[in-house]
This record gives sequence, C-alpha cells and structure tokens, in this order.
Amino acid sequence: MKVNGKDYQTIWVNEINPHLISIIDQRYLPHQFIIENIGSVDHMVIAIKDMHVRGAGLIGAAAGFGMYLAALEAPKDNSFDEHVRKCAKQLKATRPTAVNLSWAVDGQLNAIQAVERPSEKIDIALKNAAAIANADAEYCRLIGEHGCALIEEVSREKNGEPVNILTHCNAGWLAFVDHGSATAPIYAAAKKGISLHLWVDETRPRNQGASLTAWELGMNNIPHTVIADNTGGHLMQHGMVDMVIVGSDRTTVSGDVANKIGTYLKALAANDNNIPFYVALPSSSIDWSIEDGLKEICIEERDESEVKYMEGLCDGEIKKILLTPPDSAAKNYGFDVTPARLVTGIITERGICKANKESILQLFPEKK
Ligand code: MRU
Repeated sequence: MKVNGKDYQTIWVNEINPHLISIIDQRYLPHQFIIENIGSVDHMVIAIKDMHVRGAGLIGAAAGFGMYLAALEAPKDNSFDEHVRKCAKQLKATRPTAVNLSWAVDGQLNAIQAVERPSEKIDIALKNAAAIANADAEYCRLIGEHGCALIEEVSREKNGEPVNILTHCNAGWLAFVDHGSATAPIYAAAKKGISLHLWVDETRPRNQGASLTAWELGMNNIPHTVIADNTGGHLMQHGMVDMVIVGSDRTTVSGDVANKIGTYLKALAANDNNIPFYVALPSSSIDWSIEDGLKEICIEERDESEVKYMEGLCDGEIKKILLTPPDSAAKNYGFDVTPARLVTGIITERGICKANKESILQLFPEKK
C-alpha cells in the first residue's frame, strides 16, 4: 500500500544486506515513519513483544523471518536443529493470542528440520519465510475481492450514497504484509470508485485505530473519521453505520472470534441494531484445533502501564503522559471473544461463509 505515494509492504528482506529483515516500526506512527532493521532472533522477539510489528498476519510473517534469522545464527554442526527449536520457543512465547504466530513458527520448524545440510536449512528457511509473507499478502488481496461485493451491494441499496463502515483496532495493511483483512474490501471498493466512509474506533489502550488505521487510510485517500471507543453504539442507533468489518487474531473452527479488546461490545451493539457484523480473516488465523473460543482462546494480558499512560505528539516530540492516579491499579486484557452467534459472516481468501463449523469447513474441506 502507499506511504507518501510510494508502495510499501510491512516487512521485507533488506535490499543491501539479506541477513537483515526490514520492518516499519509501528511504535512511531502516525508521527514518524521509521524503518528498523532486525538482524537477530533476540531483536525480532523484542520487535514482536513490544509491538514494533503487530497484527495477526504481520506477527506470523515476522515470526517466519525470525526463524530464518535463527537458521542464520545456528551453529553449523549437529546442534543446528536444537538451536532453531530453542528460538522457536522464544518466538512463540512473545504473544499468545494470534494463532498465525505458532502456525508460521511450526511450519518453519518442520521445513528446517526436514533437510540435512546447514546451507539447505538456511535456504529453506528464507524461502519459506518469503512464502509465508507472500501468501499473507495474497490472501488479503483475495479477502478484498470477496468482501468488496458486500460493500457494492450496500452501495447499490443506498443509490451510491457513501457506505458507512465501522472498524475496530487496526486490521489494515499494517497488521498484515499488505492490503489488510478488514481494510482489504474497503481498499478494493474504493479502487472501484464506490463511495464510502469509515468510522475508526480509537482502540484504547494502544490506540491502533487512532494512530495506525487512521494513518494508513489517510495515506491511501480513504475518507474516515476517528471516534472514541464508546461512540459506535450511538452511531448505530442513529442509522450512521451500514456495516461493521473487523479482523481477528484467532477464530475457532466453530466461528468464535478473538479480536482486539472491545470488539465484543461492537458486535452486541450491531446485533441490537440489525447491522451486519463481518469478520475478515485469512485462514492462517483459524485455529482448527479448538471450538469454544471463550474457554480455549488464551487472552494476552499486557502491562498495566499501557492503560495508565498515553503517548502522543507534544511540542514536536513523542511524549508519554500519566492519565490515572499513580497508585491506581489497572488491568490490560489485549483481546476479547465475540461468540459466533453475533457474527454475520466471515470473509476469507476462499469466499464468505457463515460463522459456524459446517460453513467454515465447506470452504476448507481439507481441514475436516
Ligand atoms: O495487539 P495487536 O495490535 O497486535 O492486535 C491485533 C490487531 O490489530 C487486532 O486485533 C486486529 O483487529 C486483528 S489482527 C489483524
């Protein structure tokens, strides 16, 4: 997608030194556009944990490249695989909710261990990491094609009046390698000339909506308005939202959706107001091994300081300010689970299905 008119993806092998992985450091957006080069597994672990990169698809791609760095670092003797297995554990422990992370790491581990020579292991790790990243971008492009039809339909019903879509957090191209999941249908519809407008939830505590979604929509000329997290229900009651599209960090095979904290409340409000609530996700975000999202999805808890403090631009500098009494306790759950019954449909790379096991497995019969 575009940044100041230039095409970018969110992660790539450094053009000058192929032993470095380049990322857009999302901690500084929207105020500064900084590219960070990552040359070790330890550095990649920090980048994922501290959210230099974030979002389900990008976490998966970053972990894939992290495993390539592990192969580069590994002793070139018979302890190679042991080193790589240790790094896999480290990478998997960074963020527990997005299933793309373990999917990418396990895929890499199998591929690396399946070949003999260290040089082959490094080659396969690089090829596989690139394949994970390319697949992520391609799946999101396809999600865009399928989801675009839904927006087109509403646009026709509204005789071309702008389609108002509400989204939560950042399931945009910054959360993937390109296109995004929730934003892919939006970018595709805008490309077709369909008039639309986005309501962007600010998404406390890390403000991915206000800082990332708003930034990337602006860079790609999509009309949008940032709203405080509590505003969506009011807009829905007053006919100002035509549909909700969000992403997902882990979805069960029965259609329960874990996504950024606050998603569930939007789903409840959408349900109460008969507004379609869609979840856009590549199949790499589906956890085929679980059915009950409330019981089985591990919800990441992050540091309380993210709730107590807020960061922003002040006098030209990025500063942190304290919002609460210094001694107040805070709780910081990263995600919540929206039960399948509140989800109108799931938009995947293979098409749109209902949020239930039968319908999901009809699209992905090989997972039966
Ligand atoms: O904590 P984050 O920023 O990594 O959270 C992930 C997300 O951006 C969202 O939950 C998103 O809506 C789904 S991931 C594409």
